[in-house]
Amino acid sequence: MSTTSPVTTTPTPATSAPAVDADPDAAASGFHALRVTRVEPLTDEAVAVSFAVPAVLRATFAARPGQHVTVRAELDGVDVRRTYSLCGEPGADQITVGVKAVPEGVFSRYATAGLAPGDVLQVAPPGGSFGLDVDPSRTRHVAGVVAGSGITPVLGIARAVLSAEPGSRVTLLFGNRSARDVMFAEDLFDLRDRYGARFRLLNVLSREEQESELLSGRLDRDRLLGIAGALVDVPDVDDWFLCGPLEMVTTARDTLVDDLGVDRSRVHVELFHAEPVARRPRPATAAATTTAEVTLNGRRSSVEVDGEQETVLDAVLRVRADAPYACRGGVCGTCRARVVDGEVEMDVNYALEPDELARGLRLMCQSRPTTATLRVEFV
Ligand SMILES: Cc1cc2nc3c(=O)[nH]c(=O)nc-3n(C[C@H](O)[C@H](O)[C@H](O)COP(=O)(O)OP(=O)(O)OC[C@H]3O[C@@H](n4cnc5c(N)ncnc54)[C@H](O)[C@@H]3O)c2cc1C
Ligand code: FES
Repeated sequence: MSTTSPVTTTPTPATSAPAVDADPDAAASGFHALRVTRVEPLTDEAVAVSFAVPAVLRATFAARPGQHVTVRAELDGVDVRRTYSLCGEPGADQITVGVKAVPEGVFSRYATAGLAPGDVLQVAPPGGSFGLDVDPSRTRHVAGVVAGSGITPVLGIARAVLSAEPGSRVTLLFGNRSARDVMFAEDLFDLRDRYGARFRLLNVLSREEQESELLSGRLDRDRLLGIAGALVDVPDVDDWFLCGPLEMVTTARDTLVDDLGVDRSRVHVELFHAEPVARRPRPATAAATTTAEVTLNGRRSSVEVDGEQETVLDAVLRVRADAPYACRGGVCGTCRARVVDGEVEMDVNYALEPDELARGLRLMCQSRPTTATLRVEFV
């Protein structure tokens, strides 16, 4: 299916069927069987998928606004795990994700064309450090710069801030090709109706002329500078949340920090995907093999890691099927663990913030040990 294939799933009212947790093995590895209650077309190539969360799992699936879940399914005999950001109303008895089909995408094409209410998928509880904690006593201005499906976590953040912090405001710069591609358009208009001047939505369209020239084109450096100068009071914004393709996110972050003087610690970034890059060469002094001791789910295991051939995650999965992972590309952060003894080098890191690195966290899917012994604790 190409990205332009129509979504064939019909929107269906939530079923009364209970959520399930039928697979004890899946639950032991951190996944829970959740029943799909609704698959709603958002655009020609995107759907919102809602899952019922049974009362017994409510606390487990309680999320910080901006967090994501990992969804797992067996498709054509292959165990597929993908990460999707939560975008629904806070505190609801269901969770909702927005999935946009990517060309040749295994899971996204299944979700947009084959998934239906009543289906059951394995879902791991929310994770990730992107987002914020709401505080009703706060009066702040939160801004988002997002493109395409990057709207999902920032919609969750906007909903939470607007509903829980009566004194706070949200400004959202949302880039898309055309109005037809805007995911969650109705939800965004609803927010505008409900919260009036507290919610400002600036739709930027790259392939459709708009009344304002400033809002017609790609969300590149010049456009961001133009919009910031004319439409957004940059010093008034407390926190910026960026999500979208790598190039857009990097450009927006650099523009905010280098050109507009925003403190780097106030710019928060979530990436959905990065193309694989060549492996970094290992230092000549790196140990050939490493004995790694791993603590995971309260249990300790030991495994030999050949740092030339494999990552710590590759090795751990030989002895511990419950090791957490999703993208295996350094993007989602699901495989994070704390290195408590020994050293590793990561090939890439798109998920961990500087403060997390300073606390010893590393991505195990990207980590190759350089010491003869290693001790890590999954968090
Ligand atoms: C933290 C996090 C949150 C995410 N939240 C969302 C979300 O809310 N909504 C959403 O739709 N997606 C989200 N994603 C992306 C999602 O996890 C999948 O990567 C995406 O749906 C593609 O999966 P697939 O199985 O269809 O594609 P695959 O079969 O894995 O890949 C098919 C091809 O598409 C390329 N590709 C993979 N992902 C992307 C992408 N995102 N953009 C462009 N090309 C890609 C691959 O390199 C490959 O060439 C998120 C990812 C992360 C890490
Ligand atoms: S599995 Fe996604 S960062 Fe390691």
